Amino acid sequence: MARLEVTENFQGITFPGHLHTQESLQGALSFQFQDTDTLIATYPKSGTTWMQEILTLLHNQGDETMSRTVPNWARAPWLEQFYFSEVMKMLQAPRLITTHLPYHLLAPALKDTKVKVIYVARNPKDIAVSFYHFHKMANFLPEFGSFDEFLNHFLEGSVSYGSWFDHVRGWTKQMTDNVFYITYEEMWLNLRGSLERISAFLGRPLLAEQLNNTQKHCSFSRMKENPMVNYTTVSTDIMDHSKGPFMRKGKIGDWKNMFSEEQNRQFEEVFRTKMMGSALQFIWEA
Ligand code: A3P
Repeated sequence: MARLEVTENFQGITFPGHLHTQESLQGALSFQFQDTDTLIATYPKSGTTWMQEILTLLHNQGDETMSRTVPNWARAPWLEQFYFSEVMKMLQAPRLITTHLPYHLLAPALKDTKVKVIYVARNPKDIAVSFYHFHKMANFLPEFGSFDEFLNHFLEGSVSYGSWFDHVRGWTKQMTDNVFYITYEEMWLNLRGSLERISAFLGRPLLAEQLNNTQKHCSFSRMKENPMVNYTTVSTDIMDHSKGPFMRKGKIGDWKNMFSEEQNRQFEEVFRTKMMGSALQFIWEA
């Protein structure tokens, strides 16, 4: 299958051209948020789809109809992708919006709004592994010869969507009351507690039974079977599931199956330098 390797370079970052245009990227920067919007901000492979599912369920008091009938990209569309303005016309407040853009690009649009931002971070070793596998099955991303080659680009920040280090540092520098920080690992280790924390942040208290249903529906096994979030409805030209599923492993610490000792040493060195002065802590294995 030929790859759709058109890219858009925007403000020094490469985005897959299959999903982004200069107009859609530019449009994101001047988007008029509503105070009732919730924005999911993530670096790719951090648990974006998981958070889209969680928030859909929380917005619907644990009722799964919406998450069973509407694809994730239509109920929590990506602000910077080409179809955004069309999909937005169909959403009613309170709206869910997703973005992979770095903070500095969205800062002007977010300024003076009361938008609630949920930033999901994940340990970057697992992100690197997940992203590498995603490059194999997502035909709109370039193919890398080896994990080693990919990892070098990841550490340099010369991959699609830019540097993980810049992304996480940029978004977490402005932890105001409107920004909620959570990690993939926290959700994995304590989904129920995470749901309670998120619903309190959103001011949407749920009954125990509604939370039970949300928890059940957002498990890895349920989401893996749900065509509205597992991307099996997307054409093979775009995502080739014969090369690997989108809902791949859903684990903490899979990097240990992939990293050589030397790659780990190199990673830690770059991590130490780039994260110097940051108070962020990550869980690397469970
Ligand atoms: P793996 O490739 O490590 O399995 P994103 O949605 O940001 O692209 O992130 C995708 C990653 O989140 C994949 O990681 C996917 O399996 C994982 N994921 C999605 N839903 C999950 C869930 N309910 N529980 C655990 N992991 C989940």
